Amino acid sequence: MYINFWYPICTTDGLNEENPQRVEMLGVRLVAFRDDSGNAHVLADTCIHRGGSLGKGKVKGNCVACPYHGWEFNGDGVCTKIPSMGDKKPPARAKVDSYPVQEKYGIVFAFLGDLPEAERPPLLEVDLIEDEGWRLSGPLVFEIEAYYQRSIENGMDPIHNEFVHPSQGAPAVNEERFSVTRNNWGCEFLVEFGELTDTASHDKVVERDTTGELSAGSQHLGPNHLLTDINIPGGYCFKQYFYEAPLSTGRTRIFFINNRNNSLDAKFDDSMNGQFMKVANEDRVVIEGLYPKRTPETLTKELMTAGDAAVVSYREYLDKWDKNGWAIDIKKMRETEGDIAYAIPCPARRESGNWILDTVPLLPATS
Ligand code: FES
Ligand SMILES: [Fe+2]
Repeated sequence: MYINFWYPICTTDGLNEENPQRVEMLGVRLVAFRDDSGNAHVLADTCIHRGGSLGKGKVKGNCVACPYHGWEFNGDGVCTKIPSMGDKKPPARAKVDSYPVQEKYGIVFAFLGDLPEAERPPLLEVDLIEDEGWRLSGPLVFEIEAYYQRSIENGMDPIHNEFVHPSQGAPAVNEERFSVTRNNWGCEFLVEFGELTDTASHDKVVERDTTGELSAGSQHLGPNHLLTDINIPGGYCFKQYFYEAPLSTGRTRIFFINNRNNSLDAKFDDSMNGQFMKVANEDRVVIEGLYPKRTPETLTKELMTAGDAAVVSYREYLDKWDKNGWAIDIKKMRETEGDIAYAIPCPARRESGNWILDTVPLLPATS
């Protein structure tokens, strides 16, 4: 798990102007709330007075108020009121981490890290969103009992389709035409598939339009954003965006958005979404069975072949972010479970000192 990337925190619909929401991910507790101007904020959840959970408090104006003794924290994480002190100004140390937020596509995203704005990776933007002829559906939110990296790797793996997705016609990859392109924050590939069969046993060829090839590709951006592009002969395209939140080292919440250029009427959303979730469930069954649960630390502990090129490339990006010193030291977090309230460092920590909460332990940078 890494700091310094954008994470989906909750849905826009799920955040009203009364009740904050507490979310646990990356080994820390966060609170999301919407202030009286309608702006969403994400803060460290632990009240620095005596450990109250802000997510169990109430929204008051532009602040979230702790349920224990009523301290109020604004969207910048600054405590503006300590009721027991009357009109006295709260001390400067009375602050919690506050994270940059973007609310898009029905999702509240937070940048969980301390990089200044100019150095932050982007979030994966949804393409063609305003274009006529495209229909967006989602976010569909679901959870899987698996580590998020295993899930992203599944998206970067075109060779599983033939075996895991008989409902899609068990598309087989032509490995010759599979190459990976590397970008700043992740890599991508596009593959063309051969004849479709309608069962995993390959005994029957599906009739299909032969005017084009079935092609599909994926790209990841950062460790937890994924786009899968599916192009079906006849000009039918599906762009599927997955924003993944590591709730723990064994559970992932996935925010899934689909953009399509066919069946544009809203009345088709439910049946489309049903089909997408059918495929996602086929993946879930396999991903939840993988062992070890987290990807091994070295490539030598699994036997990769050419068809795993994009997975290997994804792991190379993870190595790079390890070297930056952005990887959370999961083992150390486990040892101190329940003893220390950790926070992901926020950008303001680079500007001022005197913070009460400890920052999450990170593996040392090596470059
Ligand atoms: S613990 Fe939050 S106000 Fe006391
Ligand atoms: Fe799949």
